[in-house]
Amino acid sequence: MQTLTIDLGARSYPILIGPGLSETAWAERAPLLGRRVCIVSNEVVAPLYLERVCAAIAKVGADTTALVLPDGESFKNGATLDRIYDHLLAQRCDRSTPIVALGGGVIGDLAGFAAATYQRGVPFIQMPTTLLAQVDSSVGGKTGINHPLGKNMIGAFWQPRLVVADTDTLKTLPDRELSAGLAEVIKYGLIRDLPFLAWIEAHLDRLMARDPEALTVAIERSCANKAEVVAADELETAQEGGRALLNLGHTFGHAIETGAGYGNWLHGEAVAAGTMMACELSRRLGWLSDKEVERVRALLLRARLPVTGPALGADRYIDLMGHDKKVIAGRLRLVLLKRLGEAVTWAGAAETEIRAAIETCCA
Ligand code: NAD
Ligand code: GLY
Repeated sequence: MQTLTIDLGARSYPILIGPGLSETAWAERAPLLGRRVCIVSNEVVAPLYLERVCAAIAKVGADTTALVLPDGESFKNGATLDRIYDHLLAQRCDRSTPIVALGGGVIGDLAGFAAATYQRGVPFIQMPTTLLAQVDSSVGGKTGINHPLGKNMIGAFWQPRLVVADTDTLKTLPDRELSAGLAEVIKYGLIRDLPFLAWIEAHLDRLMARDPEALTVAIERSCANKAEVVAADELETAQEGGRALLNLGHTFGHAIETGAGYGNWLHGEAVAAGTMMACELSRRLGWLSDKEVERVRALLLRARLPVTGPALGADRYIDLMGHDKKVIAGRLRLVLLKRLGEAVTWAGAAETEIRAAIETCCA
């Protein structure tokens, strides 16, 4: 098992990464669980892992109550959030009852937002079961739900007390979801860790074949990168750079997810196509060469990720991107690449160039 720490002073917490942790993580952490925990999962993950997690938690003396939600991005909304509150109230969960998110990023974001808001905040534990959640969404405290007009528009920062990434759970992940997770792994290389990008290129076949050792390295290195960024700018308030850099490809990607209808594009797939749009715009600004853009495209294609977005029309993209949380005073701030391994936030791109980048990267 590897342990990383998210360094946030009194709210610091460990990320445990390794095989079998769903069962073995709890022996030393009974005080964190208390008397009873509420596990939130979904209809796909619960049949695979819920029973063993409940049994392992029972062994250290805590009761469990579980809520199994419908699966998918289209359920990351207020109605599903209400179901969590209903369950917490019906089960008389109190301020000392930790909420455990057992699932991918959708469950993590939903359960985390419930934890942030139920009785003004209760302890939260992340048990991510997708690659995307293990390398990104379970770490850093962003929680929330979608709105019909925009992705992740309602939410809160609420840090977990513990992240338990059991790498064994990745064995049951569908191939398409593994690829979606790799989009976020590749992101860390592109924005701030060029040696990691080269490592991913060299080991992509092992990652695609789910070699446990390679996956563990990728998860650790991704989490280590994220930990540094989050510790430096937890609430994404830096004027330039900072935590916003983790959003490479996301402004375009969120427009794809919303425009195509939640659930039709996986988050990681939309991020991949959005990353190509960001690279194309960076090329137009003279920051990336044709060869570098080609290098990114080749890697995403090898990871079986899309490199073009849906043909929503540039007008629709621009309209949807206007809801991005990085917009300041009506001006889009995009995450672009000055060079491979170095991202910047940039509000200076002309709309004509943004449109051209979108059109170049649309199917
Ligand atoms: P997801 O939660 O929808 O999970 C993907 C699919 O895999 C689902 O069908 C799920 O039920 C299934 N699944 C999960 N674990 C499994 C397993 N071990 N075996 C088999 N099937 C399994 O999607 P995701 O890619 O994990 O997360 C995407 C979400 O995360 C998006 O809503 C995105 O906005 C959010 N996100 C949040 C942050 C953050 O910082 N909070 C960061 C990145 C993404
Ligand atoms: N996934 C982007 C962030 O956590 O800031």
